[in-house]
Amino acid sequence: MAYIIDGKKISSEIKDELKTTVGQWKEEGRSVCLAVIQVGDDPASSVYVGNKKKACAYIGIDSRSYELPEETSQEELLELIRKLNQDDTVDGILVQLPIPDHMNEKEVIHAISPEKDVDGFHPQSVGALSIGEEGFVSCTPAGIIQLLKRSGIEIEGKECVVVGRSNIVGKPMAMLLLRENGTVTVCHSRTRNLPEVCRRADILVAAIGKPRFFDDTYVKDGAVVIDVGIHRGADKKLCGDVDFDKVVGKVSAITPVPGGVGPMTIAMLMHNCVEAAKRKR
Ligand code: GUN
Repeated sequence: MAYIIDGKKISSEIKDELKTTVGQWKEEGRSVCLAVIQVGDDPASSVYVGNKKKACAYIGIDSRSYELPEETSQEELLELIRKLNQDDTVDGILVQLPIPDHMNEKEVIHAISPEKDVDGFHPQSVGALSIGEEGFVSCTPAGIIQLLKRSGIEIEGKECVVVGRSNIVGKPMAMLLLRENGTVTVCHSRTRNLPEVCRRADILVAAIGKPRFFDDTYVKDGAVVIDVGIHRGADKKLCGDVDFDKVVGKVSAITPVPGGVGPMTIAMLMHNCVEAAKRKR
């Protein structure tokens, strides 16, 4: 029987630990503050931003909200970021992506001070991760490491196959698994014999962005499968990159969708905010 990795439960544990820390700090007169910037009113982004603010409220992190109109100029956004970089009462800065097409995402990410880069998207954060220096780690892959560790799944010496090479998930995931002494393979759209490579995995991280792509032909008996995808299937049900029903009988552990990787992203964002406040000291 496969062990179903409960991301909701593990993310709640992490948030409760952070709530305790932040509560103790409050008694000492210390606070934690996250600035959340949203440009435009993309409905999906509004839901994500709302959930981040809710998590802040639960833990006791102050969230400062900047809802900018769609037609905001690049310079106006950069000016706000510069102001927040200078503001000692702000620990973390998050610009919800995507930003409108007339803006330059790269320039915006570069503008955020690495000390406040709680998303872990700044090149300095990415570089620090790759050479083992202190910096913020992208929240989804950091959350996956927590899912594995808190489920008692060892990474050291394991064959880890990551499918997907995005800057936000695939690449930092590979770096983190390497840091944990896994043997890491990164697959992508040009990989030959993908099922065969995936079947080598003791730990398979599926981040390909295609609904129910991975069936039992991609999975070795007893593997651990982590599903990063979230899609609305043709049947209107939420599903991941993994065909859960076809794979669950074969694996030793698997994350469900929803309730697996998803809830971990916000928990790790909150972790990074608390960490930013800690490092400021
Ligand atoms: N849009 C979708 N996911 C994310 C995220 O993790 N951070 C930011 N800033 N924007 C996003």
